[in-house]
Amino acid sequence: MSKPLPVMDWATDFDHRDSRWIEDPFPIWDELRGRCPVARSARFEDGAYFASRYAEVREIAYDSEHFSSRRVIVREKKITPQPAPPITSDPPEHTPARKLLLPAFSPQMISRLEPRTRTLCRELLDAIGDAKTCDAAVDYAQHIPVRLIAHMLGVPESDGDLFRKWIHLVLEVGISDESVILPALQEMSAYFFAEIKKRGGKRGDDLISFLLDARIDGQPLSDPHLVGTLRLLLVAGIDTTWSGIGSSLWHLATHPEDRRRLVADPSLMPTAIEEFLRAYAPVTMAREVVKETTVGGCPFKEKGQVLLSFPAANRDPAMFPDADKVLIDRAENRHAAFGLGRHRCLGSNLARLEMTVAIEEWLARFPEFNMTEGARATWSEGTVRGPRRLPFTLGKARKPV
Ligand code: HEM
Repeated sequence: MSKPLPVMDWATDFDHRDSRWIEDPFPIWDELRGRCPVARSARFEDGAYFASRYAEVREIAYDSEHFSSRRVIVREKKITPQPAPPITSDPPEHTPARKLLLPAFSPQMISRLEPRTRTLCRELLDAIGDAKTCDAAVDYAQHIPVRLIAHMLGVPESDGDLFRKWIHLVLEVGISDESVILPALQEMSAYFFAEIKKRGGKRGDDLISFLLDARIDGQPLSDPHLVGTLRLLLVAGIDTTWSGIGSSLWHLATHPEDRRRLVADPSLMPTAIEEFLRAYAPVTMAREVVKETTVGGCPFKEKGQVLLSFPAANRDPAMFPDADKVLIDRAENRHAAFGLGRHRCLGSNLARLEMTVAIEEWLARFPEFNMTEGARATWSEGTVRGPRRLPFTLGKARKPV
C-alpha cells in the first residue's frame, strides 16, 4: 500500500487521506465552498465527488433515486457491497430494517443507561487517579462507547481491543488497502455467529436477543441481515462517539476560556455538546451515483462515489452565522452531525448521553487541563474524524463525590 501523493488542487484532485485534510480540514472546505461547491477526484475507482455546502449535502442525502447507500465508504478500489442494514439499505428495504431497531434506541431505553455510563466514566477517572499527565483519547474517551455498546449487545466489554482493531481496518486502512476489509468483516461475522450460538434458545436483555426475536413481515431476519446489523451497531456505536468525546475534550484543552465558563456554569452543557457536535462532527458518509444527475450545477456520473460531508455542511456560513467559531452557548443550531434524511443516526440519543456524561464527569474531576507542551493531538483519517492521541497535562484532581 503506497502513501497517496500530496494534493495540488483540492477542487479537481481532492484526497481526504492527505495529512493537511486529516489535521485541519476546515480551511480546505472554506476554499472549496468559495470556489467549487462539488470537488472531484480521480484517485478513487469510478471517480469521487465531495460536496462542501449544506445545500448540496442535504439535497444528496434526501435523493435516494440518484444516490444509493449500498456503498457508504469511499475507497480507492471498490469492493462487493457488504450489506449492513439499515445504513446500506435503499428504499423500500430501508424502512423495515430501520423501524425494527427504533424501540431499542428510544429516549426512554437510552436514559436507563445513564447510571451505568456515569459509573464507568468514574472508574476510568479513578484509574487516572492523581496522575500529572494522561492520554485522554486512549485512557478515557475510547473506552466509554466500547463498554456501553458491548453491554447493550451482550458481548464481553473486555473485547474492546478486538472491536477497535476491526473498526480501524474497515474504516481507515481499508480505504487504501481493500485486502484487509473482507477478513475483518469475516472475523466480525464469526464473532457474532458464535455469540448467537451461545444463546441457543435462551434470550437475555440484550440487542442480540432482541434481533433474534425481531420479525419483518412475520419472518425472522436472514443470517446476512442479522449479522450485518450487528456489525453495523458495533462499528457505528464506537469510534463515532469516541471521536465526539475526544474532540470535545480537545476543544476544552485548547480553549481555556470555554473550559472555565462551562465549569462555572454547567447549565451550558446542552448547548456546548450540540456545538461540539456541529463544529467537530465526526462522521462523513458516502453514496454511490446510480443514475446520472446534476446537483449544485455540477454533473454526477453514474458509478461515481460521493463523500457526503456532514462535517463540512456544519461549517457552511450560509447556514450557520460565524460557522468557524465555536460558541458554546449557540442557541440556534440545526446541525447535520447525525446526518440528514432517511438514514439520520439511530443512535443519537445514546451518543448525546455518552458525550454529556463523559464531559460532565471529566470536568467534575479535572476542571484544569491542557495539551502537554510540545505534544500534539493525532487525528484519525477517513470516514470518522476524531483525536486518537490526546496528551494532556492535568491540574489537581478533585475528590470524587
Ligand atoms: C457522536 C456520535 C455519532 C455520530 C456523529 C453519528 C453520525 C451518524 C450519521 C451522520 C449517520 C447517517 C449516515 C448516512 O446518512 O449514511 C448515522 C447513522 C446511523 N448511526 Fe450514528 N452516529 C453516532 C453515534 C451512533 C451510535 C452510538 C450508534 C449506536 C449503535 C449509532 C447508530 C447508527 C445507525 C444504526 C445508523 C444508520 C441509520 C439508518 O441507516 O437508518 N450511531 N450516524
